[in-house]
Amino acid sequence: MRVTIYEVGPRDGLQNEDVVVPVEVKREFIGRLAAAGLTTIEATSFVHPKWVPQLADAAELLDGLPRVPGVRYPVLVPNERGLDRALEHGVTEIAIFGSATETFARRNLNRSLDSQFEMFEPVVGRALEHGLRVRAYVSMCFADPWEGPVAPAQVVRVGRRLLDLGCYELSLGDTIGIGTPAHVTALLEAFQSEGVGPERLAVHFHDTYGQALANTLTALRMGVTTVDASTGGIGGCPYAKSATGNLATEDLVWMLDGLGIETGVDVRSLTATSLWLAGRLGRPSPSRVVQALAKEI
Ligand code: HMG
Ligand code: MG
Repeated sequence: MRVTIYEVGPRDGLQNEDVVVPVEVKREFIGRLAAAGLTTIEATSFVHPKWVPQLADAAELLDGLPRVPGVRYPVLVPNERGLDRALEHGVTEIAIFGSATETFARRNLNRSLDSQFEMFEPVVGRALEHGLRVRAYVSMCFADPWEGPVAPAQVVRVGRRLLDLGCYELSLGDTIGIGTPAHVTALLEAFQSEGVGPERLAVHFHDTYGQALANTLTALRMGVTTVDASTGGIGGCPYAKSATGNLATEDLVWMLDGLGIETGVDVRSLTATSLWLAGRLGRPSPSRVVQALAKEI
């Protein structure tokens, strides 16, 4: 078995830091991630720069990124303006990001739940015409800070609509990191019963309640083979204050190494990168594996 790690540190991680990281530090971060063996690295977002100032340098970042054979740099794109900007800078893969709840759609996208699809439809259509690969996220898969628990059927309805636009994969986001393995099982079963199997799904767990690794193992046992993670466990969403860091890539790789599952990623090299980045961010990595390995590096 092989697991694909979809690295989100440069995007989900850095979008939520108080410090705005200089573009050359971002480039070095991404270069180090590729050197450690990561092949899918979500580099940045072409969102409104006022909404996420931490990633306002998206164009400049992409122009100077190291082009490594076999390494892909998807970016987040919410709307046609974002797509235009991404195309100008040679992007070949994008990700749209929908919400399973009304409140988060309004807060994160300034759109109602229904009108988010009107925003995404021309983005996906035009991206496919340009030969881009398009991923979709669905956020607030288990609960939302304003609306409380979210029913699996609601997530499946939204996820199905996003996939039907023409996306190759749907990443299930536990934006506020509140879910447990029971939630994961129920949601994956709900997708399966609507004809969406684990081969079309990825999982994206934030680790607020320390459940991310248990939730990931549950998803792997149910056949999911793409897992989102963030080096050093940095991350969160500025439009959902209760969101903390993503599942740390080091914690994921440590577990997968132990299970004998191939990833092609070197955990010690990632740890060295997280220790280096922590110096730039001015705070230690929350990853348990980084903390444990720090003594040997
Ligand atoms: P809006 O204000 O409704 O935009 O924002 P608009 O369409 O009304 O346009 C207003 C002005 O903004 C116009 O300029 C546009 O050109 C400009 P004007 O004509 O007034 O001069 N504009 C843009 N400029 C640059 N780039 C753009 C862009 N779009 C419009 N892309 C919008 C709507 C979606 C843009 C805004 O709400 C936004 O940027 N939201 C992004 C929020 C965000 O990035 N959140 C974090 C990522 S999601 C996440 O972290 C969750 C995830 O990790 C999964 C999980 O954990 O669950 C993915
Ligand atoms: Mg996220």
